[in-house]
Amino acid sequence: MTEEKFTKKILCIGAGYVGGPTMAMIAAKCPQYKITVVDIDENKIAAWQSDELPIYEPGLLDVVKQARGRNLFFTTELEKNIKESEIIFVSVNTPTKTFGEGAGKSADLQYWEKCARDIRGASESDKIIVEKSTLPVKTAIAMERILSANDKGLHFEVVSNPEFLAEGTAIRDLENPDRVLIGSKETDSGLNAREEIVEIFANWIPRDRLITSNLMSAELSKLVANSFLAQRISSINSISALCEIVDADVNEVANAIGKDSRIGNRFLNASVGFGGSCFKKDILNLVYLCETFGLFEVAAYWESVVKMNEYQETRFVKIITKALFNTVTNKRIALFGFAFKANTSDTRESPAFYITKKLMEEKANVVISDPKAIDNAKKDLKYYNDDIEYEEDPYKAADKSHAIAVLTEWDLYKNLDYEKIYGKMEKPAFIFDGRNILDHKKLFEIGFNVYPLGKPHLIHFKDV
Ligand code: UDX
Ligand code: ADP
Repeated sequence: MTEEKFTKKILCIGAGYVGGPTMAMIAAKCPQYKITVVDIDENKIAAWQSDELPIYEPGLLDVVKQARGRNLFFTTELEKNIKESEIIFVSVNTPTKTFGEGAGKSADLQYWEKCARDIRGASESDKIIVEKSTLPVKTAIAMERILSANDKGLHFEVVSNPEFLAEGTAIRDLENPDRVLIGSKETDSGLNAREEIVEIFANWIPRDRLITSNLMSAELSKLVANSFLAQRISSINSISALCEIVDADVNEVANAIGKDSRIGNRFLNASVGFGGSCFKKDILNLVYLCETFGLFEVAAYWESVVKMNEYQETRFVKIITKALFNTVTNKRIALFGFAFKANTSDTRESPAFYITKKLMEEKANVVISDPKAIDNAKKDLKYYNDDIEYEEDPYKAADKSHAIAVLTEWDLYKNLDYEKIYGKMEKPAFIFDGRNILDHKKLFEIGFNVYPLGKPHLIHFKDV
């Protein structure tokens, strides 16, 4: 298709876990649009142009290949592409602030604000700006003010289109989402911009799943959706602690409550803790927002979801330490999985990071194994230099270890030859299943002392 034949020219700023897959899907589904994805990170862009994509996401390469070079382009060239585009999605990172007012809770908006100023500087025509990154409520208004402060007479309409994809299932989620939410101001130009964005997704998503709302509802919905999801995990994790004491089984409890259609059976897997770039950040954004408006009780309520998550991580390390006769010092401990969930290379806020740190403080010999996340683990843990061993092969990681801790629910770990692994471990051998994915009875019969989450421990000697 020649340049003139494209019916829309769309730019996305930020080629990360959200921008890359989302734009690849739009480009694959809409060959009539030209989609350009720009990032400041040259290496990342080079990777997007190759078959070694910068992120691991099942099915992503196929989608990218359908459109790359046809109507999907990756580049570092920002100014020219801003000029050319009619619609600009912004999906740059919005980490939690680490300094100043709101440190530890509110979002660091410096990347977003820089984008707004870049857009304003380079634009020569009106544009629709789409917020993809999760942002604190009212950011769209602030951005519109920055953008509007131009002396070129240009109009920028800011629309919020929060992303609900989950990593590891991004392609499925993008292809067949539960809903797409598009928020805008309810002025004529706001409603027109909203309709333009609806039109993009209507190319492959049924209209009844394209929800529209006002700007603030859209921004807030993203924070609330993630807070509710995380709350479910903290709820079941809190119950896992009780189950271990009263000899109940958290899976049986989850199954029983999940049959109630009002509760539903998804997202009830007890775990070593939730991770990922969104949950903690979004809850803390919500907390900060509530505190800002004096809603201290509401803020404390949501903050407890994060505290429960930290409690679960700490509790897991305590279980390991106690089981290993109250000391892990100089003991080889193999961590199976470092990614924050299965089927991703992403390690942001992974519970594995916290657990590694705690074990290192206790001077354990930590060996990290993961099929996709070792490179990111090395970056996260660079402070420890050579003190941590990295071993992709789980058999080698477990060799001569005192204990294995399963931290990510990769399918790979379900089907290992645990008899072989047991044979090469120090005795007594321990296994801590932080994801409840293994066959605990079988492991016990092999000889392991088994510590599932939220279920009775299976130990060959009296608990210490
Ligand atoms: C989440 C939201 O699901 C998604 O809609 C939003 O767009 C971004 O944030 P993501 O963080 O990619 O997606 O993964 P998700 O599947 O939600 O898992 C988050 C964490 O919760 C992971 O660490 C996962 O292992 C954990 N989890 C999930 C559990 O511990 N138990 C469960 O039952 C489900
Ligand atoms: P997310 O999970 O929200 O997609 P990522 O960190 O994976 O977050 O991706 C955000 C991307 O945005 C990164 O690749 C980063 O280099 C890019 N980025 C940040 N600021 C800018 C900017 N001003 N211009 C272009 N790209 C940017």
